[in-house]
Order: sequence, then structure tokens, then C-alpha cells
Amino acid sequence: MLYSTLAIFSGLLTLASTAVCRPRADMCSVAALSSGLGSNATVLSATFVAAGGSFGEGTANPAFPINPTHLPATCAVLVNVTTTSTSSFRFGLFLPTTTWNERYLTVGNGGFSGGINWLDMGAGLQYGFAVASTDMGHNSSIFDLSWALNQPEKRNDFGYRATHGTTVIAKSLVRTFYGSAPKYSYYSGCSTGGRQGLKSAQVYPEDFNGMLVGAPAYWTKRLQTWTTKLGLYNLPETGPNHVGAEMFPVLAAEAIRQCDAVDGVTDGIISAPQKCKFNPATLSCNSTQTTNCLSSAQLQTIQNVYSDYTINGQLAFPGLELGSEAQWAVLLSGSTPNPLGYEYIQDFLLNDPNWPFESYDDSLVALADKLDPGSCTADNYAAMAGYQKRGGKVLMYHGQSDGLISTRSSTHFYESVASTLGIGGTKGLNSWFRFFLVPGMQHCTGTAVDAPWYFAGGNQAGAVGTDVFSVPGFTDAKHDALMALMQWTENGTPVDNIIATTWKNSTDPSSGVLKQRPLCPYPSEAVYKGSGDVNAAASWKCS
Ligand SMILES: *[C@@H]1O[C@H](CO)[C@@H](O)[C@H](O)[C@H]1NC(C)=O
Ligand SMILES: *[C@@H]1O[C@H](CO)[C@@H](O)[C@H](O)[C@H]1NC(C)=O
Ligand SMILES: *[C@@H]1O[C@H](CO)[C@@H](O)[C@H](O)[C@H]1NC(C)=O
Ligand SMILES: *[C@@H]1O[C@H](CO)[C@@H](O)[C@H](O)[C@H]1NC(C)=O
Ligand SMILES: *[C@@H]1O[C@H](CO)[C@@H](O)[C@H](O)[C@H]1NC(C)=O
Repeated sequence: MLYSTLAIFSGLLTLASTAVCRPRADMCSVAALSSGLGSNATVLSATFVAAGGSFGEGTANPAFPINPTHLPATCAVLVNVTTTSTSSFRFGLFLPTTTWNERYLTVGNGGFSGGINWLDMGAGLQYGFAVASTDMGHNSSIFDLSWALNQPEKRNDFGYRATHGTTVIAKSLVRTFYGSAPKYSYYSGCSTGGRQGLKSAQVYPEDFNGMLVGAPAYWTKRLQTWTTKLGLYNLPETGPNHVGAEMFPVLAAEAIRQCDAVDGVTDGIISAPQKCKFNPATLSCNSTQTTNCLSSAQLQTIQNVYSDYTINGQLAFPGLELGSEAQWAVLLSGSTPNPLGYEYIQDFLLNDPNWPFESYDDSLVALADKLDPGSCTADNYAAMAGYQKRGGKVLMYHGQSDGLISTRSSTHFYESVASTLGIGGTKGLNSWFRFFLVPGMQHCTGTAVDAPWYFAGGNQAGAVGTDVFSVPGFTDAKHDALMALMQWTENGTPVDNIIATTWKNSTDPSSGVLKQRPLCPYPSEAVYKGSGDVNAAASWKCS
């Protein structure tokens, strides 16, 4: 009611802007928004941001220090929620004052960070969403897990409680502010953001109608232990097994040399890694080549990195994909494994900040399986059926050049949901859950091989600007995965492909489009039609 009254005002009184804004400004107050909230939630602030403005916490938010800019007019709300006597979380909410599309969106986080993702909220606001993000109950950067030490309730906030609580309370604030509930609710996030989405589908299937899930860190108990194991393959730095980060680009180039053409098109992009028998031994040292080459101990390390991590013949976690080498330095350089791995064991699993990572052994996987601290892991494949039954849709994607989370862990998720539900393979998921591999895309964003990687997935807009939303120049459901998800959810239009884009400078849309290519629902792949511009989407089909 209130919203429609305001909409009529704005239609009638385009010149008298103060008359239009006054009722909204009144609603954008701590007092107005607090009515109807439970006693565990406190509105800390409500700030009116005029069109063209910016909002965020800047460097006081180590996880998301970059504020979005050129925002549509919005009420920016900050809420604090008590969850237990030892835990609480905050969330931010943008309520568009003149551009609401009558829909709600939660955006996700990354790594083990604690902070409100104002940047992704800004992109969501530009579509017209009322959009929220939670700090997940702590304040830290991506690679800092020390907040979790001996804090089981903070872990629970991170695992599932803050995302759900944010969504429930934000929707209630939407009703208070506009006088009506959102017609549809969406979720978008990548990495930990992807995990938050899948966890929500499994535990709170009523929260969202559609979710865009990128490179999900869903298998926490296995991903974090594998991350430690992986780092140890390449340690100690002084060992004969250690491969220096300067060799990763050399390895990447050799993988492209051997494997690029296997998919049928020589374009510098490895699109069918599973079809290539890559032999890194071509980089072996010999009497004429003694530098920029690999010893047999180093070749074994590389083999370990690509290989699935198995324990007693059972998959513990898949290895990194062929074509991911350009991003290997994140998990495979330095004098320790990545903290995402060993600090999880210290601060989540063992409550021992002095545990030495050198003492890692496979029994920690069984312990992580048993404890799953914070219930972070989202591997309840059967529970995805509950989300489906409520009519929920999922678009999931994963970059094939991801050097942080194995691409094949998402394939494993998709295949496992299909086999657990017993519906005759992944075809049986087609009506509500589709999965897209993204050739040449790294972790969530970016490419080292000029592959089309951009489709407005979680974190993507923020990777190319502070005021970007959707796909610049292609703001439609063919190119924008969130819009495609909305069409599927609301009109039943299936997402048969998503056209990904990259630019001449892959992080600068103003440099001009370089390539576009369809992403195809698994297990289909983009195939070049044999004629036409290889950089044009129309020259490709899914098959
Ligand atoms: C988060 O930590 C930063 C310092 O790293 C600090 O400046 C900021 O005030 C903290 N924010 C909150 C909400 O506690
Ligand atoms: C949020 O609530 C918790 C628990 O009641 C409290 O400890 C904390 O100081 C509050 N945070 C802010 C920023 O008000
Ligand atoms: C807040 O309190 C209400 C009422 O006790 C409860 O249902 C809800 O789960 C609480 N929310 C959170 C996020 O703890
Ligand atoms: C020596 O190794 C380099 C690559 O490391 C290779 O190109 C060259 O063919 C090898 N030479 C011989 C004699 O095997
Ligand atoms: C590409 O664009 C980004 C963002 O505008 C800029 O920082 C970077 O320097 C550009 N790279 C090149 C090679 O021009």
C-alpha cells in the first residue's frame, strides 16, 4: 500500500521532488524501521543516500573495503542481530526509494571473511532489488580464521545462521518500508557465497525462489583439509619437490600448447581438459635445459596437484583442473599451506592455534567429517529436493581455470544430487537445477587466457568497477545470468545457455568487447559451428 502510494506520488509530482522524497525519508529512519522487529534485532542506522551517491564502511570493513558508487537513491540500513549470548551478526540492506523492482536479493561473501559486501549490494541495487548482505558474525579479511578459535556460536553464524537470519529480517524490513512483501526472493554469491546459497537451499528451502551459485566452497570439511594437503605437496620451500611460482606460467603455457586444440578450436582456451592427456614431462630438465625446467621430484608434485585426493581409494576431494595453473600461486606458494586450509584445522577443528601444519595426516578428514564445525558444509544432496519441491531454481557455475576450488568439486556436487535423488542422471535435474562450466574463467572472476568470463555472476560486477551492474551494453537475460534466473523463476523460460563476455582489457568494459561465447548446461559443451567469427557467440552452439 505504502509503496504504491509513493509510486503514484513520484509519477504525479516529478518536479516537486521534496514532496516525493519526504515520506520516504520518514520511512528511512531507525524508529520507522524498528517497528515490528523482534527483540534480537536492532536497527543501528538508516541513512538516506541520494541518487548518484555512495555508501559503505570503506577500510573499516577489511573484507569489503571498496564502496559502491553512483547508486540509485536508497535507504541504507545497518542492523545488528543477537544470535546467542556469545554471538551476533550485522547486516546491511539497501532499500531503493524510487526504483524498487518489487524483488529481494541476498548477496554472499568470500573466503572466511567477515564483512558486509556493500559492493555487490550496489550492483544488486542497480537492478532495483532491495538487497542485503551479512558480515556473517565476525569482522575479518578473507584469509583470517582466528575469530573462530573456541567460538562454536560464531562458527554457526558463519555456517548458516547469519545468512538465514539476514534474509528473514531483511524481508520483514522490506514489508515495513514498502508496505508489501517482495514478489520474489533471490540469492547470488560465489565461493563462500556459493556455499551460503547451497546451504540455504538445503536447510531453509523457503528463503529463496531462485539462486545463482558460483564456484561454491560447499564441501568445507573436505575443501579445507585438501587445501592443507595440497599446500604440503609443494613444501618445504627448500625441498627438491618444491616448484617455484615462476614455473606456473611456464606450465600454464605448456598445458595450452598440448591441450588447447583438443576441444576443436585453437583459441588459447582449454575447454575440454578431460579429453587431454597432458604430459608435463616435456618440461623436464636435461643436459641442455637446466633452468626453467622440472626435476622428477617436481613433476611428481605437479602430478599430485592435478590428481584427486583419495583416502583408502575413496575420493576425499578432486584435484585442480588442467588449465588452472595460472592461478596456482594462491594455494601453492609461500612457506605455509594457504591459511584457508591449515587455519581451519587450527581454529575450527582442533581449537589449537599452535598445531603445526607439518603434522597433517589423512585422519583429519575423518575428524572434519565427524565434527563439521559450524555446520558449514553443504553436502546434504538429498535435501536439495526440498528446495525443488518449493519450486526453487538453481543456476550454478564454476570456472574451469579455478586455482582455488577444484572445478570438479562442483561437478561432483551436481552428479551427487542427481544420483542421490535417483532421477536417471543429471538430465533429471534439468527442470530446476542447471550447472554451467566456464572455460578459461579463474576463481569467480577473471581470465588469464582472454576467455569470455563475465555474465554478472557473484562478485563479477565489483571486479570491473564500483558502479557496474549487469553486463555493460548487454543488459538482458541472454547475457546476464541473474536476469536469466529471474526469467526462469518467474516466467518458466529455461536457461538453455548464457552468453559470456570478455573485453579487450578483460577487466575494463570500456575497452570494447573482445569475445562472446555461450556457456552451456552440463554435460553439454559449446561447440564451434565451423564457420563465422570464432569470437562471436552466434558462431557457437551447445551440444
Ligand atoms: C572491523 O575491524 C576494523 C579493523 O580491522 C575496525 O576498523 C572496524 O571498526 C571493525 N568493525 C566493526 C564493525 O567492528
Ligand atoms: C550487536 O549485538 C551484540 C550482542 O548483543 C553486541 O555485543 C554488539 O556490541 C552489538 N554490535 C553493535 C555494532 O552494536
Ligand atoms: C530472533 O528471535 C526470534 C524470536 O525469539 C527467533 O525466532 C529468531 O530465530 C531469532 N533470530 C535470530 C537470527 O536468532
Ligand atoms: C631438454 O628439455 C627441453 C625442455 O625442458 C626440451 O625442449 C628439449 O627438447 C630437451 N632436450 C633433449 C636433448 O632432450
Ligand atoms: C585494464 O583495465 C584495468 C581497469 O580499468 C586497469 O587497471 C589496467 O591497468 C588495464 N590493463 C591494461 C593492460 O591496460
